[in-house]
Amino acid sequence: MSVLVTGGAGYIGSVTTEALRLQGLTPVVLDNLVYGHRDAVNPQIAFYQGDIGDRVLVEEIVRTHGVSACIHFAAFAYVGESVEKPAKYFENNVAKTIALLESLQQSDVKKFVFSSTCASYGEPQYVPIDEKHPQSPTNPYGWSKFMVERILESYDRSYGMKSVALRYFNAAGATESLGEDHDPETHLIPLVLKTALGQRDSISIFGDDYSTPDGTAIRDYIHVSDLSQAHLKALKYIDRTGNSDVFNLGNGEGYSVKQVIDTSKKITGIAIKTEVAPRRAGDPSRLVADAKKAGTVLGWKPEFPKLEEIIESAWKWHKNFPNGYGR
Ligand SMILES: NC(=O)c1ccc[n+]([C@@H]2O[C@H](COP(=O)([O-])OP(=O)(O)OC[C@H]3O[C@@H](n4cnc5c(N)ncnc54)[C@H](O)[C@@H]3O)[C@@H](O)[C@H]2O)c1
Repeated sequence: MSVLVTGGAGYIGSVTTEALRLQGLTPVVLDNLVYGHRDAVNPQIAFYQGDIGDRVLVEEIVRTHGVSACIHFAAFAYVGESVEKPAKYFENNVAKTIALLESLQQSDVKKFVFSSTCASYGEPQYVPIDEKHPQSPTNPYGWSKFMVERILESYDRSYGMKSVALRYFNAAGATESLGEDHDPETHLIPLVLKTALGQRDSISIFGDDYSTPDGTAIRDYIHVSDLSQAHLKALKYIDRTGNSDVFNLGNGEGYSVKQVIDTSKKITGIAIKTEVAPRRAGDPSRLVADAKKAGTVLGWKPEFPKLEEIIESAWKWHKNFPNGYGR
């Protein structure tokens, strides 16, 4: 089966592309390389540098490769930037997703897996957050994902396009060859490890006065390999049931910023300098997933749930690739 992977040269997309290949499926990557890396995609895999909004190109890819499903990672994902430039986010994440869906619908591709986010829940009303938690995003990035989820519901009702929206919590970790190389980087674990490598002077802790045991914010980190496996299970779920659905993907365990830094110090053996900075607007104190539904319905179980394993894998990758994909 050929699967179109949009954003397959990005962090989670590249790991999932490799997982598809290892499962004997045929991934075809479409990425405009605005943030992705050509070297993150195995040269044996069909790769198109282009835009998801390019309907002629998408329809040609589907025809050429006999694509029967799409996993859609391509998006902009900087929360702060989305507040400054909402149009950029609604254009890329929503309008271009509609163009992509139209191309797929016209080409009779009716299976779609979508990268959604815990940011679509907004300020948590209770933790751990399950899929029934109300969605009320606090920034345009979160709204862009919320909107696509609603669009997918309409595409199911009107066109019979079946979709699974996967609401990831914090992706982290690496495989032997594929890791996290965002520019700019805003995620905690790579920033801490870059500090350990001496590429940054210190790591900022945004707020140490939250109502958490050590005062720093708590997040749910999920290994990127475990995320990738959930996409394979989501495709199988659509095949098996013919249904659309939504699943949280997280560990169900929360770790504080201080715990991440302390664990990184232990794993790297390096004293990592920290600085306390004011809280960032809109940063909740605790974001932890209730991902039981993905376990019971998809049969998904994280293989690397421990923070130590996640950080160790990321540290190995950052040491082996100190300049990431070598821009
Ligand atoms: N990283 C996380 O913790 C996290 C958490 C929740 C949700 N997500 C979502 O998961 C997806 C992947 O995240 P990531 O961290 O791998 O991001 P990433 O930036 O590494 O990957 C996104 C890829 O999409 C490509 N892209 C963007 N717009 C495009 C367009 N119009 N046409 C073609 N390609 C385009 C980029 O070049 C990049 O390679 C995103 O949709 C993101 O919103 C990520």
